[in-house]
Amino acid sequence: MTKIMLCGRGGSGKSTVTAMMARYLAANGQNVLVVDADASSRGLAGLVGLKRPLRSLADELGGPEALTRKLGAYLGNSTALASRIHVDELPAACTSRRDCLALLEVGKAWPGGDDAGQILEELGRHVLGRLDDRNWWVLVDNEAGMDRYGASHRLTDAFLFVSDGSQPSLESAAFAARLFLEVEKPLLTLLNQVEPAAEETIVRRAKFLGVTVDAVIHADPALREAAEKGCPVPLQGDAAAAIRKILSRLEAVLNPSGRVRARSRFQ
Ligand SMILES: Nc1ncnc2c1ncn2[C@@H]1O[C@H](COP(=O)(O)OP(=O)(O)O)[C@@H](O)[C@H]1O
Ligand SMILES: [Mg+2]
Repeated sequence: MTKIMLCGRGGSGKSTVTAMMARYLAANGQNVLVVDADASSRGLAGLVGLKRPLRSLADELGGPEALTRKLGAYLGNSTALASRIHVDELPAACTSRRDCLALLEVGKAWPGGDDAGQILEELGRHVLGRLDDRNWWVLVDNEAGMDRYGASHRLTDAFLFVSDGSQPSLESAAFAARLFLEVEKPLLTLLNQVEPAAEETIVRRAKFLGVTVDAVIHADPALREAAEKGCPVPLQGDAAAAIRKILSRLEAVLNPSGRVRARSRFQ
């Protein structure tokens, strides 16, 4: 199982890129589970081209109050923590699935739930840590905020930082590069929503900050329109080429030489 966590500032395009990667992998015959771990956004299932699950995992476990009470015991159960779960064993009500594409909704923040973020994060990490299925990719679409990734690095094989061309976003990408170097986890960087005319300058600014850009997706009105209409993201043009490039780079970093196939599946 290959677990990839997407990170980056809010609005940089994490959900859009997650959906494109999921659709690209599925179109290439790969099994992919998308984990919606962003407590404060909704449209991911639509972008992936799936129905939203009936309820979230948090609701399945009894909703906000029960979760607040129960989670300590649930997480403290060492037998449960030690056991592995397969995608097929995830509760059906919180998983939407078609062919080789599946989506699990961890939970959404609730009114008055001061601890919601923390509880849902812990629940997300718990599931991610236990998921184990040989032939599946897992793509985790996260909230913004770098602080939480430190705690997730043991559960994740690689990170993909999505950055727009703004200075704050590039600075976050630089911070992420240093953080993941320290924990020795591969991190790729994808520049998103960049105007073609500005690309060269932005890539140079990124390099100056110590960020290596692995692929670029230009600003594309079709991607924005999909989000506005709640439709599946289109997989076309240079955006599709950038997704292919990211996936073959991920394959390369996750299978260091010797164990790699002669050719990437995503050439
Ligand atoms: N390459 C792109 N071109 C144009 N619009 C984009 C692109 N990538 C993302 N968007 C739009 O930017 C907004 C934020 O994207 P989203 O994926 O929701 O970001 P995040 O999940 O990081 O908050 C959405 O309206 C989305 O449609
Ligand atoms: Mg999002």
